[in-house]
Amino acid sequence: MTLHNQTAIITGAGKGIGKSTAIALAKEGVNLGLLARSRADLESLQRELTSTYGIQVHIATADISNRAEAELAVETLIKELGSVDILLNNAGTAQFGTLVDMDPAHWEQIIQTNLMGTYYVTRAALPTMLNQKSGSIINIASTAGERGFATGSAYCASKFAILGLTEALLQEVRKSNIRVTALTPSTVNTELSVNAGLPIGDEDRMMQPEDVAELILAALKLPQRVFLKTAGIWTTNPQ
Ligand SMILES: NC(=O)c1ccc[n+]([C@@H]2O[C@H](COP(=O)([O-])OP(=O)(O)OC[C@H]3O[C@@H](n4cnc5c(N)ncnc54)[C@H](OP(=O)(O)O)[C@@H]3O)[C@@H](O)[C@H]2O)c1
Repeated sequence: MTLHNQTAIITGAGKGIGKSTAIALAKEGVNLGLLARSRADLESLQRELTSTYGIQVHIATADISNRAEAELAVETLIKELGSVDILLNNAGTAQFGTLVDMDPAHWEQIIQTNLMGTYYVTRAALPTMLNQKSGSIINIASTAGERGFATGSAYCASKFAILGLTEALLQEVRKSNIRVTALTPSTVNTELSVNAGLPIGDEDRMMQPEDVAELILAALKLPQRVFLKTAGIWTTNPQ
């Protein structure tokens, strides 16, 4: 299925997996709405993508953990793009610590961003897809959403929740021709994994954000009658 001239909103588009996916979609001729908190990241990507691929790129800064900001940003991007065919719920944050030692404000922030932010953004975009009777939503979960580990209580809880949200929503909207997918990558070489102090091992063999973008592209190119429910993507790097 060709993606040319479709429209996509990507959260967390300024860096890492979101940025790589924006580049991959731009190459396919998809018009983009990019969202993150840092304007400078979005502006430089907007310049690069418009000049290289001649597509429309709109940007909106918002903290998705804030419902009003998330809704305004998504509504503005949809107005500018004229529709939303693809929603990539990618923005996320990670921090690790024992349940007792971790600051409750940080614990809450992880849930508020990874789970509530995904919910706010999806709720703002879904009515347009329901009216169109088509669309694809891809939620970036994690292996941490399938398997708990010590010090990961907040991050794992947020990502397990994303898998639950994905499965419930896909049952709700599949009859409206809207696909909902969750991806569960293991460690990817991005600022998030480096800053969170995840064991990286041999960097050359680590999964790169462009690799995840390729899987996202493949999922989106499936005929509209088919969708990937969940897909794990692991690196060959032993962790
Ligand atoms: N890296 C991994 O090992 C790995 C593995 C599995 C799953 N994941 C998941 O993949 C997703 C992307 O991660 P990444 O590794 O690509 O991270 P990254 O390189 O740190 O990029 C995260 C992006 O999200 C944005 N963001 C963070 N908090 C936000 C907020 N509250 N509101 C709006 N935007 C926000 C960041 O921009 P601003 O800071 O400018 O807002 C940035 O553009 C996350 O959901 C993460 O949990 C990552």
